[in-house]
Amino acid sequence: MKTILITGGAGFIGSHVVRLFVNKYPDYRIINLDALTYAGNLANLKDIEDRPNYEFVKADICDFDTVYRLMQDKNVDGIVHLAAESHVDRSIKDPFTFARTNVLGTLSLLQAARLYWESLPERYEGKRFYHISTDEVYGALELTCPEGVEPPFRTAASSGEHHLAYGTEFFLETTKYNPHSPYSASKASSDHFVRAFHDTYGMPTIVTNCSNNYGPYQFPEKLIPLFINNIRHRKALPVYGKGENVRDWLYVEDHARAIDLIFHKGTIADTYNIGGFNEWKNIDLIRVLINTVDRLLGRKEGEDLNLITFVTDRAGHDLRYAIDSRKLQRELGWEPSLQFEEGIEKTVRWYLEHQDWLDQVTSGDYQHYYERMYIDRG
Ligand code: NAD
Ligand code: DAU
Repeated sequence: MKTILITGGAGFIGSHVVRLFVNKYPDYRIINLDALTYAGNLANLKDIEDRPNYEFVKADICDFDTVYRLMQDKNVDGIVHLAAESHVDRSIKDPFTFARTNVLGTLSLLQAARLYWESLPERYEGKRFYHISTDEVYGALELTCPEGVEPPFRTAASSGEHHLAYGTEFFLETTKYNPHSPYSASKASSDHFVRAFHDTYGMPTIVTNCSNNYGPYQFPEKLIPLFINNIRHRKALPVYGKGENVRDWLYVEDHARAIDLIFHKGTIADTYNIGGFNEWKNIDLIRVLINTVDRLLGRKEGEDLNLITFVTDRAGHDLRYAIDSRKLQRELGWEPSLQFEEGIEKTVRWYLEHQDWLDQVTSGDYQHYYERMYIDRG
């Protein structure tokens, strides 16, 4: 039996990764280690919480002694590390928390894994430390077009039929790091520590850098769930700056599939970019959200366009992110499974049908789930 420790499994992407691993690998023991910060919600995993191959441990990755003991007690073979502070706006207000969790927390996990694995007769044989990172570490790209062409234009960077791009440059695995926000600076630093543990101690590490995820169970501080909820309740939609910033959106289950593939088949010490080949200007994406919510609620399509409210721009707001994920396509055969139109329809439907989930999160009630499920039940 393999024991896999997934950190941050009660968060947005982590919950999809935990679900995928628990369902797909009944012979693995999946341990979800999560501190249950404001972003952790065990209700995201209600459907699998009683599975025999699943365990939840409430712990902080910065707590070295607890993490080290857990690795020893459970004989952890592999780590998929997602736990992090993940929201750029929060990092602008409170950078220290980001340095603590993302940098020191990752270091504590690396050191615990190193000391535990080095104490075993087989040492690093069959072990793996997989660190989930972001495209934001690469900085920002320009909105540049070939001469005489209006953005967005079709690009050869993708094999997909539908790829429209807002610039001629893309983030490659070799792109130099150039983070701008405290969040991306902390993720960049953690990526460096992970690679340093490979180069210095020979730890079998892998790093992946992914673009913006969307889908069910995303905390409604992020653009897509926040705006779906606001449109439903006819609240203002705070669009930063002019809404001209471009993001590359990937359906969260496609990210989870990529993580599974790379965890099992990726090359040690390598880096893979993961992206949707799906660039949208915020303002265009917001119009799609409004039209979709209106249509699904039986309102006149576009009726809520007047909710768009331009507000002061985010400080240091990166203009454009665009991932070139052809290496992952070429080497491991992964590509996004959903077209954006399909993914966004599915996502909007999910939030509209799970108003109870949104209400619990926005009211703070979800934070008592742990007491009810794990402490009360003993
Ligand atoms: P999230 O904020 O939804 O979830 C983070 C989880 O980590 C929560 O469950 C939280 O309780 C837990 N956590 C936070 N601090 C912790 C600590 N000190 N100890 C243990 N657990 C802790 O984040 P997400 O959007 O699911 O992102 C997951 C990972 O993927 C992050 O590393 C993020 O940088 C990366 N990423 C996210 C995106 C995206 O679009 N959301 C894109 C690329 C990469
Ligand atoms: O690119 C990957 C990153 O994507 C991840 O590493 C981060 O964890 C994740 O939060 C996300 O970062 P962004 O800053 O791109 O996501 P966010 O949803 O916060 O914002 C998306 C865009 O929408 C961005 O250009 C800012 C803008 N925005 C956001 C909010 C919350 C608004 O205009 N108004 C808003 O209220």
